[in-house]
Amino acid sequence: MAAAKEQWGSRIGLILAMAGNAVGLGNFLRFPVQAVQNGGGAFMIPYLVSFLLMGIPLLWVEWAMGRYGGKFGDHSTPFILDNMTHQRFWKYFGVFGIFTNIGVMAYYTYIESWTLTYAIKSIKGDFLGMPLNEVGATFDRYVDLGSSINLPIWAIVAYLITLIINIYILSRGLSGGVEKVAKFGMPLLLIFGFFLAIRGITLGSTGRCPDCNSHLGLDFLWRPEFSSLADPKVWLAAAGQIFFTLSVGMGTIQCYASYVRQKDDIALNAMSAGWMNSFVEVVLGASVVIPIAVGYFGLDWVKENAGFMMAFKSMPFLFDQFGPVLAVLSGLAWFGLLFFAGITSSLAMGTPWMGFMEDEFKWSRNKAALSLGVVILVLSLPTILFFGKGVFDEYDYWTGTVALVLFALAEVVLFGWVFGMDKGWAEITSGADMKVPRLYRPIIKYVTPLFILVIFLTSVFKPLNGGLDDWGKGFAQLGAGQGWPWAKDSIVNQLFHLDTGIVWFEQGIPTNMFYIDMSRFLLVFTFIGLGALVAIASRKRRQNA
Ligand code: ALA
Repeated sequence: MAAAKEQWGSRIGLILAMAGNAVGLGNFLRFPVQAVQNGGGAFMIPYLVSFLLMGIPLLWVEWAMGRYGGKFGDHSTPFILDNMTHQRFWKYFGVFGIFTNIGVMAYYTYIESWTLTYAIKSIKGDFLGMPLNEVGATFDRYVDLGSSINLPIWAIVAYLITLIINIYILSRGLSGGVEKVAKFGMPLLLIFGFFLAIRGITLGSTGRCPDCNSHLGLDFLWRPEFSSLADPKVWLAAAGQIFFTLSVGMGTIQCYASYVRQKDDIALNAMSAGWMNSFVEVVLGASVVIPIAVGYFGLDWVKENAGFMMAFKSMPFLFDQFGPVLAVLSGLAWFGLLFFAGITSSLAMGTPWMGFMEDEFKWSRNKAALSLGVVILVLSLPTILFFGKGVFDEYDYWTGTVALVLFALAEVVLFGWVFGMDKGWAEITSGADMKVPRLYRPIIKYVTPLFILVIFLTSVFKPLNGGLDDWGKGFAQLGAGQGWPWAKDSIVNQLFHLDTGIVWFEQGIPTNMFYIDMSRFLLVFTFIGLGALVAIASRKRRQNA
């Protein structure tokens, strides 16, 4: 086994890198939209409960697993998990901890490249005086590669530049690359974030419409509503957001933590990074897009139109309302913030693959980084070329949503029940610079796995519309022998296309489903390929033992 050559340079560097891993596009693009679509303040309580009962326990578990694996010179989840048990199959669950990262990195770096392009466009003043529909159309043209014969070269060039930047930084290692970017990027991100949040908070009423007031947006997001507590749909969205935003169930935290020195604290570090992420999300993330949009368009418009792409299709127009100087500054701050939020997360997603190839196949860091670049390029091309066909969303659904839940469930069961809570608790608390509340011992063993299991089963069987009543109606319908009313985004329906049937061609032309299913095969093939690499590595280990 390779000895751990890499190490974090400083504690602050480690915390910033871990916070950078968590703070990402999810905080600024995904969170506000999820919150609006799930009732604003009604989203907050399930979100907070998910953070306390699932997020925090998983952070401790993953940090502990990582540092424990590092003791044996292992830096990716297949063999980190393998060290915790004699049962050999667990390492194949660990494949998720590489697979998820490269799957998410493939589409995530594409979004990063948009932010780079848009930061440059903002500095150039491209959006000054541009009407809203033209700002939207600019973005549509930018991503519409597949259907155009004249491929807009810049989108591809911007993507390649973004990927090369990622790969170059990763090739410099943790202390020489990732840590430096985090130390520079995170403070800058916070400065940009505060600047924009202050703008969102102080904007107030713009007089454009009766309820065009940024404070209404803030009030909508932050005023807790208890009505949602019985709504499974909101719980699913909140739990999904916690997974994505904290990067738990992914494999990045274990990988980063495997480079921590054995005597070093993990308990307080995990809390520092986790709470910093929540602060950035709930305070800064909530104070920018939605309040500013409500300030100019009103709450109803925002409720109807809130979506991930608002950041690109509406924000440049909204900034333009501030006047030319502030418009350029705000555009730079917004897209610069997104770029740094993105890259500090995608760097983390690259490290498990690198750790695995370096540990198992003795590849140099440069070779591991280069191979990562090739893998990501191959996986990202379908999302770029067939963006409009839904391939991008497909990657997000399987790698950025379902896989996280599955892996988190597996690892928390392994930790609490196979590795055992006595050893597990000792791992979490060893070297701890804080008193870890003992209450978390039973939470990790019983509550978190149960919570994740319920979330998973609810996503598998989600009925149409997904509300509490809909479950009741679903059971009644099932009891009457009329089958289960599958929701479009239930895992079963997604897998088998139950609502539409499989239609790959219409009049000889491939349908979106064709592209989506082909991208699924690619993901499955990637998973199997990674599993085969783990099997080869395992055989090599046995031969060398
Ligand atoms: N945690 C990262 C984000 O929120 C992946 O974007």
